[in-house]
Amino acid sequence: MHTQHQYDVLVIGSGAAGLTLALSLPGRARIAVLAKGPVQEGNTYYAQGGISAVLDRDDSIESHVTDTMETGAGLCDPEVVRYTVENGPRAVQWLIDLGVPFTRQEPGHSSRFHLTREGGHQHRRVIHAADATGRAVETSLVGAVRSRDNIDLFERHIAIDLITGERLQQTGNRCLGAYVLDRGVGRVEVFRAKFVILATGGASKVYLYTSNPDTSTGDGIAMAWRAGCRVANMEFNQFHPTCLYHPQAKSFLVTEAVRGEGGKLLLPDGKPFMQRFDTRCELAPRDVVARAIDHEMKRLGIDHVLLDISHKPAAFIEEHFPTVYQRCLKLGIDMTREPIPVVPAAHYTCGGVRTDLQGHSDVDGLYVVGESACTGLHGANRMASNSLLECLVFAAAAAADIERRLDSTSLPPPLPEWDESRVTDSDEEVVVSHNWDELRRFMWDYVGIVRTDKRLERARRRVELLQHEIQEYYWNFRVTNDLLELRNLVQVAELIIRSAQMRKESRGLHFTLDYPRPDNSKPPADTILVPEKARCGKVHHVAVDKVEHLQVLPGS
Ligand code: FAD
Ligand code: SIN
Repeated sequence: MHTQHQYDVLVIGSGAAGLTLALSLPGRARIAVLAKGPVQEGNTYYAQGGISAVLDRDDSIESHVTDTMETGAGLCDPEVVRYTVENGPRAVQWLIDLGVPFTRQEPGHSSRFHLTREGGHQHRRVIHAADATGRAVETSLVGAVRSRDNIDLFERHIAIDLITGERLQQTGNRCLGAYVLDRGVGRVEVFRAKFVILATGGASKVYLYTSNPDTSTGDGIAMAWRAGCRVANMEFNQFHPTCLYHPQAKSFLVTEAVRGEGGKLLLPDGKPFMQRFDTRCELAPRDVVARAIDHEMKRLGIDHVLLDISHKPAAFIEEHFPTVYQRCLKLGIDMTREPIPVVPAAHYTCGGVRTDLQGHSDVDGLYVVGESACTGLHGANRMASNSLLECLVFAAAAAADIERRLDSTSLPPPLPEWDESRVTDSDEEVVVSHNWDELRRFMWDYVGIVRTDKRLERARRRVELLQHEIQEYYWNFRVTNDLLELRNLVQVAELIIRSAQMRKESRGLHFTLDYPRPDNSKPPADTILVPEKARCGKVHHVAVDKVEHLQVLPGS
């Protein structure tokens, strides 16, 4: 038997949400933070535009609330929106105190820091570190975590599944820990903890084209679903309108702040087109802009549109957008002189594990924060730069709740070990790579920016088949990082398709040609999926003498 890791708090994920939570806990709490790759790798590091908050005296809480609600197309929870917006300035101040080098404003302005504008915002309220805000935030958070004695960081450790009371056939469904693959040595270890936090980010890798790094495979959403948590609003997948279109550029975003500072979207003949779709033109919310681009690309049979800010002084562009400028230049595009070819790509998962104001999930002791959660802030569409804000505000709220419960909660007893006695090394890795490609392609083609009943049904049939195949594979072979991610992606794909099939209207990010308008005959409602109890009580590879041979079955 291996020694089991034991901590007060197990944080799965080292992005803005996970690290903020760890740093907000008191020094007496012993904390483990897991990252499935290098610590900084995740969506946070790549965030460009910034963090929205009311920081200018001409701006107001009411205005930020109104803009968020309007972008969310009737599905934002007003209490959650107000809570987040009201706590925004404090959350940003916490980062400033941590030393995040936000871009400063010339003296004489009403705010100390430069605030940019993005789609949906009526005011300039996005604080940023040039166009590499995520890098600045993540670097500061990692630095702070490394300096804390009570936090142990485990890089290249991928959580496989949560261990819950129900799975161990105990009464109650408390979360007790997790099985974790140490990718370095290829061994599955047990982490047990008083509290477990899922901060694993989004699931945009389910689509062929995405702005996200490889980490965004929906692991937390899939793990929570298998553990018995409700999942909500998975049909609302945000496509960012402007990712760089270039054969050598993988997943590179061209920040919305380029449009916020005057960038224009053009057709190949140089003509603007956004005025035909929305009076707010380039600064309409993302769903509107992404659909407009998709429409024009399909109408004209073109591979991309153009984003042009070359009318601004070169010095301004280089100062405000150094990351985008340098990246484009390396590929032979000088954005100070010519437009950038851009296309929409999957960017953000608005749905996720249903949580409340403190990040509680449906499983006792399990909190979910950041992009994995569905708090009610974003509704049917997330407004730009509200995501990092949500990570910060909800991580702090969850930490405060855990602190209240820390001393009165006992550590779980030793848990059953992972049992690999009946599995072998795979002799057919091609199954995993083939299914990865197939899944992401049909999700792009059938469950993308524009959907129809027929396409969704096609996708449902295919995902069912893949689930079967992957489940069988998971049973028989030793787990690997790719297999675990694929298993989670397929689960999340199924949740997306099911949710999309349930919504018989177009709203926010969910657009279907079969129901092209919102259904105003009844109040707008969230899509909530509930896992069947009998199906989520099973864990794979647990020693049979401790618990009957159990496997996580698909939650539906
Ligand atoms: P992430 O930062 O994605 O971190 C996830 C963590 O979980 C990683 O450490 C990963 O290793 C770990 N993990 C995942 N699965 C497992 C597992 N099974 N086991 C162990 N660890 C695991 N939002 C804004 O508000 N403003 C912006 O300007 C902005 N720009 C963006 C630009 C880009 C290119 C992208 C991709 C996103 C942008 N977003 C922006 C969105 C925002 O960055 C993310 O929503 C946010 O950073 C999510 O933070 P997170 O902590 O929830 O997850
Ligand atoms: C961007 O910089 O365009 C991304 C902002 C966001 O996703 O909030």
